[in-house]
Amino acid sequence: MNLADKNIINYIENKKQEEETYWDFKNIVPKDSIYYVHSYPAKMVPDMQAELINIVLQNDKNIKNIFDPYMGSGTILIEGLCRQLDVIGIDINPLAYLMTLVRTSKISISTLKRKSEKLLNLINNTQNVEDYQFDGIDKWFNNDIIHQLSKIRYCILQEDDILYRRIFWLAFAEIVRLSNNSQKSTFKLHIKKQNVIDNFEYDCIKNFSKQLEKDINSFNDLYKSFSIKNNSKIYLGDTINVMKDKRKFKDSSIDLIVTSPPYGDNHTTVTYGQFSVLPLRWIDINDINQDIDDSILKTLTEIDNESLGGTNYSIKKIYDSCILKKSKTLSSTFETLINSKEELKARKVASFYIDFYNSCIELARVLKKDKYAIFTIGNRRVNGIIVRFDLILSELLSTLGIKRIYDFDRNIPSKRIPTKISRLKDNKPVYSIQTETTLIFRKD
Ligand SMILES: C[S@@+](CC[C@H](N)C(=O)[O-])C[C@H]1O[C@@H](n2cnc3c(N)ncnc32)[C@H](O)[C@@H]1O
Repeated sequence: MNLADKNIINYIENKKQEEETYWDFKNIVPKDSIYYVHSYPAKMVPDMQAELINIVLQNDKNIKNIFDPYMGSGTILIEGLCRQLDVIGIDINPLAYLMTLVRTSKISISTLKRKSEKLLNLINNTQNVEDYQFDGIDKWFNNDIIHQLSKIRYCILQEDDILYRRIFWLAFAEIVRLSNNSQKSTFKLHIKKQNVIDNFEYDCIKNFSKQLEKDINSFNDLYKSFSIKNNSKIYLGDTINVMKDKRKFKDSSIDLIVTSPPYGDNHTTVTYGQFSVLPLRWIDINDINQDIDDSILKTLTEIDNESLGGTNYSIKKIYDSCILKKSKTLSSTFETLINSKEELKARKVASFYIDFYNSCIELARVLKKDKYAIFTIGNRRVNGIIVRFDLILSELLSTLGIKRIYDFDRNIPSKRIPTKISRLKDNKPVYSIQTETTLIFRKD
């Protein structure tokens, strides 16, 4: 352990001693900033991550860039920009990519105000727009909502600057999410009861206007802390594939990794894809990225299938990958599930870690010697057994020369994650993870 490691650990421990629940950041009042105006599953707590980034920066004056390989809504990238760092991020989910792209873009507030006013005038003065169509639209949206959303969509398309169209799509995505017929207590798409749908009323246009106003205020706030000189590189795609391109990700090029990867439950509980697919079906996705493959939106679960752990590998592939030899904790979890006659669940757990480990190989390649990687993760339950992601992560990274120097647990504020996040076949709710672990590693 070196002096910087000791300083970082002392800081975290001192804060804990001063106040036991310090790292829960439970008293944060959600402010009207760019962080809070758009929803996304399992967002990080910015203030907490910001404090960790600050401690690392104080102890290493040579950090020029920060990388989040699973950037989601872009929390870490924004914190990086606010600290004059170059930022790099990847996400496979086009909605996450759009959020981060918009939040890290340089725009003119006065132009945004002018263009928003023009858009709202156009919406109010436009009649008889043909209803937009896609498979399943009538199941997920009431007729009057389809009329209103079609009108907003048509008017957004009249804006000729893609930078501002993207901002409008992001505000629109939030309205699509709030106006659809899925229950809001879970990230999964669960249709509401018919009588609730029949009585549902929502003014999309009024709420879109409010959302735009919030976004303008947030951009205003954010730009007070941004440096125009910073460089952001944001990629849409699978982290492993994107990082394999060595022109984009050179060996030993990253100064600090801060991330919160998925936990392997993207089909059952934290379904980032299902959360995003309805808004994405309404948006002109070429505006998000020209190279986007729209087959990712064909089914409600395709984004989650393509995500880490989305493919269930065979037992042979699992043994051939040697993943079980790299982590004794993973190996014993796998054996316990197999012995409980839960082969499918055992394969799902191992499949997730095969994918995850492949991304860790790339992370180890790009991280500079002596630099830190900070992971925030949760230990989920499978078949009643706790999958110790914290231990598995430490064991996997240690095979790549990245050593754990410290970890600590914190309670997840209830506002961040719905407590009920999925249902089993017997219709009983599954409760979400209520604590998470932050682990600090350093590359040898
Ligand atoms: C825990 S979330 C990150 C949340 C983020 N820290 C925030 O504050 O919003 C994990 C992210 O990993 C993404 N993801 C899952 N599999 C991926 C893959 N194979 N490649 C890239 N991103 C992936 C998900 O889409 C999700 O946005």
